[in-house]
Amino acid sequence: MCLTIDVNTKLVGLLGYPLGHSFSSIMHNAAFKKLGLNYLYLPIEVTAENLREVAAGIARMNFAGYNVTIPHKMSIMKYIDRVDELARVIGAVNVVSLKSGAATGYNTDGEGFVRSLQAGAGIRVEGRSFFIVGSGGAAKSIAMTLAFREAREILICNRTEQKAHDLAEDINTKVKSCSKVVPMQREIMKTALRHAEILVNTTSVGMHPNDDQMPIDADCLYEDLIVADIVYNPVKTKLLKAAEERGCRTLGGLGMLVYQGAEGFRIWTGLEPSVDIMFEAVLSR
Ligand code: ATR
Repeated sequence: MCLTIDVNTKLVGLLGYPLGHSFSSIMHNAAFKKLGLNYLYLPIEVTAENLREVAAGIARMNFAGYNVTIPHKMSIMKYIDRVDELARVIGAVNVVSLKSGAATGYNTDGEGFVRSLQAGAGIRVEGRSFFIVGSGGAAKSIAMTLAFREAREILICNRTEQKAHDLAEDINTKVKSCSKVVPMQREIMKTALRHAEILVNTTSVGMHPNDDQMPIDADCLYEDLIVADIVYNPVKTKLLKAAEERGCRTLGGLGMLVYQGAEGFRIWTGLEPSVDIMFEAVLSR
């Protein structure tokens, strides 16, 4: 909770449906409290048919902005005034800021991953080679952001190979030509991974309650690889355990969750939140 709720309280919303599993309100309200800010973060369940009206109403109220989540990350773009360049190439918005009556959309999901990689593993993206498993919304945000941040190479591997081709082509045409598809076949993946530096699982494979699953075979992993998983429940997935056993450095998904939130916080308030408090809040949930 914020310190006082009064006419000066700035609201930040979360628009999505359903919102039962969201960690965002506990994380942001803890960060507002830590800085003594008179802000309140509110989950607002909105169905697709009401999104336009809710977005228009919020823009005329005492909201500093809002987060957007499933299923509205793409459709919200029709109802806001401006979309920042990275969000435009990703084709999805997860943060909206409201300033002087104008709604501007951003995408901080990929940036959250990049900051988590820097903070958690000391890795900068420039000049690095990435191997991404998955080609859904999360893969797109991460891959486009990595290309924007001058990654050297982005290899994409997905169960449905056509989606991997579509994503690689999108990266190559919209940002820079650095992406190739790796077919999901063990020997080919193994060889490709020998030349990559950072493996990123963007699929939901291994997420609770399917804790015993992993997106690729353990024998594809080798010691020098950095292995990142965006799944955060469980905190240490089967993939990360297998990677540790093989001597790889690993990075869990909580960092991306916290840092994408921290980027939103900065956009709404102009201030840097305490990421330690945000980690503590999500871990206590
Ligand atoms: P999100 O927006 O969270 O990324 P999504 O768009 O539904 O979610 O994408 C999920 C990704 O996980 C896809 O790449 C999906 O592969 P397909 O494109 O073949 O569907 C991948 N995925 C989900 N379950 C999987 C499984 N059991 N094995 C392999 N890949 C899986």
